[in-house]
Amino acid sequence: MTTGMPAEPSAVVGGLTVRLRPVREDDLEMFRRFAVEPGLVGLDWAGFRDAAAAARRFAADGWLGADDSRLMVDVGAEGGAAGLVSYHSGGYAGLGKYWEIGIALLPEWRGRGIGWRAQALLCDYLFRHTPVQRIQAATHAENLAEQGSLKRAGFTFEGVIRAAEFRNGQWRDGHMFSRLRGDPSPL
Ligand SMILES: CC(C)(COP(=O)(O)OP(=O)(O)OC[C@H]1O[C@@H](n2cnc3c(N)ncnc32)[C@H](O)[C@@H]1OP(=O)(O)O)[C@@H](O)C(=O)NCCC(=O)NCCS
Repeated sequence: MTTGMPAEPSAVVGGLTVRLRPVREDDLEMFRRFAVEPGLVGLDWAGFRDAAAAARRFAADGWLGADDSRLMVDVGAEGGAAGLVSYHSGGYAGLGKYWEIGIALLPEWRGRGIGWRAQALLCDYLFRHTPVQRIQAATHAENLAEQGSLKRAGFTFEGVIRAAEFRNGQWRDGHMFSRLRGDPSPL
């Protein structure tokens, strides 16, 4: 029997079905690893974090807050998720909020076309369920994978934000990208 409810979109690559879904209890081990395994997250490693914080947050709201959320990147494979995406709200002026998104895949799932599809799916999801006009994402000059992934996900490079973040011993520039509601989805 069909419920008549639309399914959330998914994308197929290399025999895998990439879809986004809420965090489950058995995903918390991945959060714990990203907090305490140096370099697992990639260039964004910023030192050890509270390994139990993710479980506390999951208990509070399932990682689905009004202004700050996480979803898992599920590829339908044995063993659960390939990584996670994040989105938090911000605002430049007055009434209009935007989302800033982020992503981290486990190393074994990188470079296979999953990252850009997950970020494109996240944009489509956010434009579908929230009224924002703008979704932005920032990365670094040296993160060629994320720059390529954002471009494939329909983002446009906007410019360099100087000295935007302190990481690995020094202040570093950020590379800002955005996708607007009217920009075409690559999916
Ligand atoms: C960044 C990340 C999400 C990209 O996802 P991915 O699945 O590895 O990359 P994709 O397959 O989507 O690649 C998209 C494009 O970038 C290019 N690309 C991917 N990895 C690359 C690399 N290491 N160097 C240069 N280009 C790369 C690909 O060639 C592809 O372009 P193409 O389809 O025209 O060939 C993933 O590598 C990751 O999780 N890295 C660690 C965490 C991280 O850096 N997150 C972003 C923080 S700002």
